[in-house]
This record gives sequence, structure tokens and C-alpha cells, in this order.
Amino acid sequence: MVQVLIARHIPEAGIEKLQNAGLELVYIGDRQLSKKELIEKLKEYNPDALVCLLTDTIDKEVLSSAPNLKICSTYSVGFGHIDLEATKELGIVVTHTPGVLTETVAEHTAGLICAATQRIVEADKFTRAGKYKGWEPELLLGLDLKGKTLGVLGAGRIGTRVAEIMHHGFGMRIIYHDVAENNYLHDTVDADFYPELEKMLPNVDVLTVHVPLMPSTKHLLDKNKLLMLKKGAVFVNTSRGKVVVESDLVDVLESGHLFAVALDVYEFEPEITKKLFELPNTVLTPHIASASKETRDKMAEMVADNIIAFFNGESPKNQVKL
Ligand code: GLV
Repeated sequence: MVQVLIARHIPEAGIEKLQNAGLELVYIGDRQLSKKELIEKLKEYNPDALVCLLTDTIDKEVLSSAPNLKICSTYSVGFGHIDLEATKELGIVVTHTPGVLTETVAEHTAGLICAATQRIVEADKFTRAGKYKGWEPELLLGLDLKGKTLGVLGAGRIGTRVAEIMHHGFGMRIIYHDVAENNYLHDTVDADFYPELEKMLPNVDVLTVHVPLMPSTKHLLDKNKLLMLKKGAVFVNTSRGKVVVESDLVDVLESGHLFAVALDVYEFEPEITKKLFELPNTVLTPHIASASKETRDKMAEMVADNIIAFFNGESPKNQVKL
């Protein structure tokens, strides 16, 4: 019988699918495991399949602690936490959950852009604190989006969807940087492509980050680059925290160069630079951009479908190309 180890409980929809397919779920964690604990569980059960999360470090030491392991299915679209060189060397298939969360993450990103430019969190705190004493002509002035320029860093599925929402819904002009041109973005929102990031940044009113974490994107945005943004720009990140040097982001925000920052991801999450809590012009969410009930269920089902397909001798739909 195929044995599956689930590092931490995922929505029931995925668990049921695996069970209904006749796979044996040998362990289902009820909390985040440390690397040491995950290794212990893998040694104890030596499963055929591992369901992991973006919070697990899946390196060679972890993978080789279960000699039977054939597939690692991550409950996330990002797979920067998995050492792909090691999976290749050990002949372990990796799958992820692309596509199903695009709309949800794009909607959350649009929400963060609105919250940051309209100072919604700051205004909410102000009102709750009993500070609203009557209408004022210049109380908590924000920024309009119509006619402003959205810079999309990483024009994959999510970046493209954010561009569509912000262009068609808010009338923003779209420019983007990526390693390749995206013809769909040209056709649908008349976007301008910037092959060089440094050339795009000075034109950006709102920068939204959607690149995956890879060696080439780690710390892609440092103080130098952030200072290239227009003065008064807004910075939004729903991809991975390590794409940005968080201490540089804080310095640039504190210097007054940026109007606001909205983040769902952090360089050292769950740790967050304290200063981000103290500054008024930050909107901070706890890595929940894909967290709708529907989407998290679909992600869990996708995790299960990939494992089931693999053990049926088919190639899983969402296999990461090594
Ligand atoms: C979320 O960040 C994911 O990668 O699914």
C-alpha cells in the first residue's frame, strides 16, 4: 500500500481524496514541524509520498531521511523551499499548485494596493481610537489610482491577473519587467515591457512584486533599486519576502521616499521587522493572499491529484520541471 506522510494538516478535501484513492496516510501533523522533527517523522515512517508546506525546508538531508520517498507534493505554488538539485539527484518528483490560487492572490494584491493608497488601515485605527471629531478637508489624504502607473515585477499568471484588475477596474497604466515579454499583457492591457528593471522603476507609481524566489530573484530589490522608484511610490509584495532586503525597505520607507508599503510576505517570516509595526503607512497581512476557503480546498485537491496520478503510473499535471 502506498504510504503518504502529511507534514501538516491540509484541508479535508485533499485528505479525503487521498483516502478514497486507497492510499495510507501514515502521519498527519497538527502543527508546524521543525526540520529536525520532520526528519524524525520521515525516518520513522519512510513514506512513498510527502505532502509538505512552504514553511518546511526540504533539502537533501530531509529528503534522504526517507529512502522510499518518490514524490514530494507541496501545498503551495511557490517551491523555493525545496532543493530541486537534491530532488533531481535522488530521483524524487516534485509537484506544486499553480493556477488555482491566481485569482485569490490577485484579488488580495488589489486589496492591498487599495488599502495602502487609501490609507484604510490607518483610517480604521484612527476611527476606532475615537479620534474622528468631524469631517475635515484634509483628513488622511490618500492617492488616486486612475491614470497612475502600475509596475508589475514578474508578469506570470498572478502578475498578469493583477495587471488586468488594476487596468480594467481602476484605469491604471501597466508597465512590467520580466525575463521575457508577455504578449497577452500587450494585447489585453496595452502594457509596456521593460527588459531592464532599472529603467522601469523610475516610472512606477505602484510597484507590485510577483516573481518566484530563485537565486536570481533573492534580494533583487535593495536600497539602490527601491530609491529608483518615483518619490511617493507605493510598494506591494505578495510573492516572497526574500525578494526584498527588508531592512532596506524599512530605511527607504522611513526616509519618506515611499508613500506606503503593503506586504503579505516577509524576509524572515514569521519574524517581521519591528519598525514595520511602528510606521503608520504600512499594511501588513500574515501570508494569506491565497487564503480563501475555495482556493485552499482546491490546492489540497491538487496536492492529492498529483500524488494519485503519480502512483497510477501517469505523469502528475503539476510537476515542477527539474
Ligand atoms: C503561497 O505563497 C504559495 O506559494 O502558495
